[in-house]
Parts: sequence; structure tokens; C-alpha cells
Amino acid sequence: MSEIAISLKNVSKCYKRYAHPVDRLKEILLPGKIRADEFWALRDINLEVPKGQTIGIVGRNGSGKSTLLQIIAGTLTPTTGEVKVKGRVSALLELGSGFNPEFTGRQNVFFNGRLLGLEQKEIEAKFDDITAFADIGDFIDQPVKTYSSGMFIRLAFAVAISVEPDILMVDEALAVGDEAFQRKCFARIHSVQERGGTVLFVSHAATSVIELCSSAVLIDQGDLILSGNPKLVVSSYHKLIYAPTDKVETLRQELLSMDHQDLENKSLNYSKDAETKLSLPLRKQALYDPHMVPKSTISYVLCGVEIKQPYITTLEGKKVNLLVRRKDYIYTYSIKFDQTSYKVRFAMLIKTVSGLEIGGAMSHTTQNAIECVEQGSILQVQFRFRCFLQPGVYFFNAGVHGLKDEAEVYLHRIIDAAMFRVQAENDVLETLIIDFQTEAFVSKVNSKSITPSNNQHSKLVV
Ligand SMILES: Nc1ncnc2c1ncn2[C@@H]1O[C@H](COP(=O)(O)OP(=O)(O)OP(=O)(O)O)[C@@H](O)[C@H]1O
Ligand SMILES: [Mg+2]
Repeated sequence: MSEIAISLKNVSKCYKRYAHPVDRLKEILLPGKIRADEFWALRDINLEVPKGQTIGIVGRNGSGKSTLLQIIAGTLTPTTGEVKVKGRVSALLELGSGFNPEFTGRQNVFFNGRLLGLEQKEIEAKFDDITAFADIGDFIDQPVKTYSSGMFIRLAFAVAISVEPDILMVDEALAVGDEAFQRKCFARIHSVQERGGTVLFVSHAATSVIELCSSAVLIDQGDLILSGNPKLVVSSYHKLIYAPTDKVETLRQELLSMDHQDLENKSLNYSKDAETKLSLPLRKQALYDPHMVPKSTISYVLCGVEIKQPYITTLEGKKVNLLVRRKDYIYTYSIKFDQTSYKVRFAMLIKTVSGLEIGGAMSHTTQNAIECVEQGSILQVQFRFRCFLQPGVYFFNAGVHGLKDEAEVYLHRIIDAAMFRVQAENDVLETLIIDFQTEAFVSKVNSKSITPSNNQHSKLVV
């Protein structure tokens, strides 16, 4: 059994809400007369996080994510329940909350470092690293109140991450800052992971959760309603946020009653399939494998429109799902309109097994959307594409956009609607996901002797 880093047992949090701030005072001065409304921000949360895991926490706004992190960090006490945390915690909750605006960056680094439990000597040793990470140059000796918000956040993050925590908690902190800085933050999170640390990560960014986390939980209205494979949890979360308001409650109940173990097995299955199928013998022809159907398909709640029968064919119309690199294919699905719809557009998206979204397309621009599709219509959309993907397994989404209450929404969407494998080939030089059709040329720069490759096709020019 792996060591448990964080354990929550039946944790609930009740906030008191007062209609007027002065009521809070009245309640203290005149006990007996309760003036507060009770609000349960978390209800009966049970969670065990094994050491070394990275857990993503997703949920709609106000669902209780930050409350949960604050309880684990110890900055909030739960109303009921038990919290156990093992190891040094660094929480990036409210970045820079310990900073004094009148102090310089340097003074704040030392002040904050001490607050986070570092010794003076430790901070001195780390100081150059911290300033290099924050990348604020000479501003380090200016009062923090003169900083831009980006500089402020970068310095706060740099200090918080410098404590080399056993448990790192990040609450949306990465949403601020530019891409280069985000990249550095992710690299730091990876280094915590590599050291065997535990990470809790709140984010609305699906890709980050899927890429970074070994597991994820979905919190809704204070309930932990789903936990497991990040890709499935994120898809369910999306299904929830895109659901029409009158369908949300039914959906919540559905998720709550879902068999978690079954869900977990499903998600593990497809990754295993994907791996074993990668090593099948080489085939140069696009083929169809009837067993290759996604087990992770999630269909969003319908808004009067239904996507049906997504499939892939060759240009000649032969149904396939074992593709050959660099050939052309057609991704087709039909759409049944049970109600008249306006400003209609169709979408597709391709993802990797880990859920990384690598490319997509729309059938029309916003300006050129189909003005009106009458109730009862059935349309078919075909996306022709060239397979510039490396051998591996990929998933297709399908989506129909249209107007609802004047805003463009998904009228229907299917996650992992279809899957395909790009077949392995011998001697592929390209690596990773995208096939950029790269060609390499090597030439001599000075006159030293070189023994070229025996291979006739070598691009070595001597
Ligand atoms: N100090 C407080 N007093 C009263 N209610 C609070 C307090 N702090 C949070 N809440 C309420 O508790 C609920 C959960 O808040 P929390 O900040 O944990 O949500 P969240 O999931 O982090 O939301 P977001 O995605 O917007 O950051 C919200 O409805 C919020 O209004
Ligand atoms: Mg929050």
C-alpha cells in the first residue's frame, strides 16, 4: 500500500452568511438570536491522496474548490470531519498574500520565505534562483507596490515554490502570467512530481489537468461527485458546465450514481488497448478494425439536435480506423434536427489518448454560419483531412454549434465520438505527435574526415 499524503474523512465546511455586516457584531453582542444564514460550501468530503500523486480538482465557479484547498493547507478549519496531512505544504492559494507593499522585493522574499518555514541561510542560498525565476531584474530592490501585477505574481510564485514542498497546492495561479512563465511554473510542478512530491491542482484548463494529473476529482455545489481518470472527470465536468440549466440537476444525480469502479476500468481499458495496438505488424493499407471503438464516449445533453454515426472513410468511401500516415481521409457524421436551429456550424477535434487537443476545424466561420435549419432536417457533414500524425491512437470529438438565447452554444457535442490508429511504420524519423514532414540535411563545416553512412539515402553531403 502506498503512503497516504492527504486524508480527508467526512469533511464539511459551513460558512455563516450575514445579510448585513453589522449582524455579525450583533450576534456576538446579543447571543441567542441567530442572524446568520448557514451555507454549506463542502459536504461530507472523503478523499485519500497517495504520496507522489498529482490530483486535479475541477468544478464550476463557487463549487468549493478553494475552500477544500484552504482546509488542506490549514488556513481554514473544517466545521466537521478530520483532515490529516503528511509533509511540508506549500500552497499557492492567494499568491503574495503575505507580501507587504511598502517593502522591496528583496525584503519580501526574506520575510515571506521565513513565513513559509525557510531558515535565513536557506533563503540566502536560494535567493538568486528565486530572482532568476521571477525575472524582474532591478525591480527586486524597489517597493513591491511599484510592481506590475505580473511581476508581483511571478515573485510570489518564485518564493512559494522555492520551499521544495512535499505537498504543493496550486489554485488557478497559473492562469496569470504569460505562456513562457506558465511553462516555467509547469516545469517546477514537474520537478515536485519527480522528487516524489504530491500536487493538488485546481484549474479550469482541461488540457493542463489532463496533462499534469494522475487523477482528478469533480466538485459540485460542495459535493465530491466524481473521481478517477482525469480525462473522464474533465469530460464529465464539461458536460456539466455546458448542460442547459434545467438539465443540470438530473446530470448531477447521474454522475453521483455512476459506478466509479466501472468508470475507472473503462478508462484504463482504452489506454491499454491503445498501447498494445501500437505494436501490431506493419500494414500499408488503411483498414477497419471493428473492435476499435472508443470506450470513453460521452454525449452531452441534447439541445434539440443530435449527432449520429460518426465514422472515418478513405476518399473512396471505404470505412476505416487503421490509417496510414500522410494519406487523405474523410470524417463524417450526420445531424438530426429535432427543433429549428439558427446560425448552425459543425466542428471536429482530434485528441491524443491522454486528452491533449491537437487540432480541430469548423465547417463555417461565425459570419457564414447556416442561417436556419428547419425542424425535422437531417444533415451530414464531412471533414476531409490529411493524416499528418505519428503512429499512435487518436480520438475525434464532434460538435454542433448554434444559437440558444442569442448566444452561440453547443447544440450537441460528443467527446471521443470515434477513434483511429495511425499504423506503425518501419524507419520513421519523425518523433512525437505531429508529422511535420521534416527532412534533415547534414553537411561538413570544416575539413575533418568523416565516414558517411552506408545507406545510399543518407543526406550527408561530403
Ligand atoms: N468566507 C466566506 N463566507 C461565506 N461564504 C463563502 C466564504 N468563502 C467562500 N464562500 C462561498 O462558498 C462557496 C465555495 O467557494 P469557493 O471559493 O471554495 O469556490 P471555488 O470552487 O473555489 O470557486 P471559483 O471557481 O470561483 O474559484 C461559494 O458559494 C462562496 O460564495
Ligand atoms: Mg476558487
